Amino acid sequence: MNQSLTARAVFVTGANGGLGEQFVAQALERGARLVYAAARTPKQWNDDRIVPIALDVTDPAAVARAVELAGDVDFVVNNAGIAPAEDHSITTGSEDILGQIFATNFFGALRVAKAFAPVLKTNGGGTLLNVLSAASWLSVPTAYAASKAAMWSASNSLRVELQPQGTHVIGLHMGMVDTPMTARFDIPKTSAASVVEQAYDGAAAGIQEVIADELTRELKSRLGSTVEDLYGWAATLQLVPADS
Ligand SMILES: NC(=O)c1ccc[n+]([C@@H]2O[C@H](COP(=O)([O-])OP(=O)(O)OC[C@H]3O[C@@H](n4cnc5c(N)ncnc54)[C@H](OP(=O)(O)O)[C@@H]3O)[C@@H](O)[C@H]2O)c1
Repeated sequence: MNQSLTARAVFVTGANGGLGEQFVAQALERGARLVYAAARTPKQWNDDRIVPIALDVTDPAAVARAVELAGDVDFVVNNAGIAPAEDHSITTGSEDILGQIFATNFFGALRVAKAFAPVLKTNGGGTLLNVLSAASWLSVPTAYAASKAAMWSASNSLRVELQPQGTHVIGLHMGMVDTPMTARFDIPKTSAASVVEQAYDGAAAGIQEVIADELTRELKSRLGSTVEDLYGWAATLQLVPADS
């Protein structure tokens, strides 16, 4: 199976965002023949190889329409996500915000994965890249972290279930990335370009889990320790400002 980007047809959700724009641009730099740039408000890209598509991942009809329009896709980047500023406590956060976060980061991402699975199968197996987070493994503590943990679990299930049809399922994990999502946090961040470069390198290499920064690699190495040790270590880090 061809795992590089050369001559692939790529579908990117949340394509107007910080990571989304990089997923679009770097796919083309790596030789993709076509990129479907799916966004709630599609923009003009002024490049014949980019096809803008209107897609809100919380809308099942819109996802079904996207699948009809993009039947040649063999690489899906499940990237759309939200991290509302109001979400800073799993204890006191409103059920409305919790619902919006799960509708996008879990149900929306899973809906896209399920809808494109038959397309990927028809097109030789292909690649499904789920954009997860360090928060899949360490609570911040937010509903966002819970949604990413749930999608991490679903990604592992998707990998097992789609393995017989030859689909390469990748989970991408990282901490703070410099995008509009994190503009409110004044702490060190990885560049979106670097994260996407590592994700596509991992895809080409056939890797199933890409960890795109040093702190997240250390976090992963500590998952075998006790919860006490893990959260004791986390308390020594400045993960997000206390008043975020
Ligand atoms: N930035 C980080 O530190 C970080 C770290 C770990 C993981 N991530 C994950 O990386 C992914 C991309 O985030 P980002 O940092 O690039 O943030 P971003 O710049 O805010 O981009 C997120 C994109 O998702 C789109 N989106 C939100 N809800 C949607 C919906 N219902 N349907 C379709 N698109 C929707 C947004 O569209 P609109 O333009 O219409 O709002 C936006 O373009 C997310 O899954 C995020 O959780 C980010």
